[in-house]
Amino acid sequence: MLYDNIEIKDGRLFFAGADTVKLAAEYGTPLYLMDENKIREKCREYKSALDAYASDGSCAIYASKACSFGGIYRIIAEEGLGADVVSAGEIFTAKSAGFPMEKAYFQGNNKTDEDIRFALDCGVGYFVCDNFEELDALDRIAGEMGKVQRILLRVTPGIDPHTYDEVSTGKVDSKFGVAIETGQAIEAVKAALSKKNLLLEGIHCHVGSMVFDSDVFVRAAAVMLGFIAEIKKVFGFEVKILDLGGGYGVKYYEGQGEIDIPANIRQVAEYISEKSVELGIKTPSLRLEPGRSIVADAGITLYSVGSVKKITGYKNYVSVDGGMTDNPRYALYEARYTVVTANKADSPLGLTADLVGRCCESGDIIQPSVGFPADIGRGDTVAVLTTGAYNYSMASNYNRIPRPPIVMVKDGKSSVAVRRESLEDLLKNDIL
Ligand code: LLP
Repeated sequence: MLYDNIEIKDGRLFFAGADTVKLAAEYGTPLYLMDENKIREKCREYKSALDAYASDGSCAIYASKACSFGGIYRIIAEEGLGADVVSAGEIFTAKSAGFPMEKAYFQGNNKTDEDIRFALDCGVGYFVCDNFEELDALDRIAGEMGKVQRILLRVTPGIDPHTYDEVSTGKVDSKFGVAIETGQAIEAVKAALSKKNLLLEGIHCHVGSMVFDSDVFVRAAAVMLGFIAEIKKVFGFEVKILDLGGGYGVKYYEGQGEIDIPANIRQVAEYISEKSVELGIKTPSLRLEPGRSIVADAGITLYSVGSVKKITGYKNYVSVDGGMTDNPRYALYEARYTVVTANKADSPLGLTADLVGRCCESGDIIQPSVGFPADIGRGDTVAVLTTGAYNYSMASNYNRIPRPPIVMVKDGKSSVAVRRESLEDLLKNDIL
């Protein structure tokens, strides 16, 4: 099936070697499952490609916004990756899980003074500074705290990654970073170099997510290396680190495009070393910030079917016990997924229906026009595949629905990584 951690045996869906129907019965639904070996495999794929092809010191940084919980920072740390963190919440989670904070990169376009102080206090390795106000605030607060902080500067290279608008961030009119094209980026470098409590080490860009086009990162690298050469010319300053952000696309359904990540890393890394020689700059060490491609296919979501509504002459609905609260991606981006009826996985498909959730909202669609067995009904288990990225991390308590647990599966064995939210959890901040 879609990935090598998915198989069908005796009519049941197996994930990471475990029977999903049994797991649904054991832990209840809705349920996020995560395949620990798959996460590790993906980390190693990045690490070995960067070790083999990129300049010394290059490394991958897991963009933890894709899926952030204590246990994942432990896995990432064990695999030797850095972590991209975007809020005090992610920083706190990483630190609490024992993540080495000198390998954390703090991103974001609007860090408050409080965030800055907290991140400095936690010993975050790098700030990825987004704008002039942040440079001022970070310099001031670092000074008050008697620290000198290493930074990267986020710039927009003016690259269109040909993906959907909500995740396209490298264009000149983006809310993120400072634009090279307008001359603001070189001004920001000047400002960064003038701050006595900041140590500028590199420049950063992130062009977008779900990138399949193999030359997107090469085009971004071309602009960024040109900018590094300009920095050298104007200020005589050698940029040490080039961070090209995240964005590799993943396959959500059969027939969707694919990108060979190690081959692309090789292409980008070779381009960077050749171009650096041509431009007369030192080859910068490379950072990549994969989020989705580390965790997406390491996750699936299980639901129990409740009602099956057949509106004769119109359409059909299969309702499950989760919905846009645990997976808002169809509602937000019309994102496509592969759906399998886990306990009838090799039954012929005889009913086309929208897979919908339990929220009081018509937009609560997990996936439209899904094929189900004709006899699908209450109590059946439905699996949505490739939900490891941007599902748990974007889940909400809309309609006061508790968030599902995350159960880790490793070599066929399971353990709870995040407990199911209880009704009491929902009340914990309410003054009654
Ligand atoms: N680095 C930066 C600075 C980012 O903003 C992002 C994603 C990444 C790395 C990781 O990109 P990835 O490898 O995961 O594509 N909620 C949307 C995705 C938003 C991506 C935001 N930034 C979705 O569900 O599709």
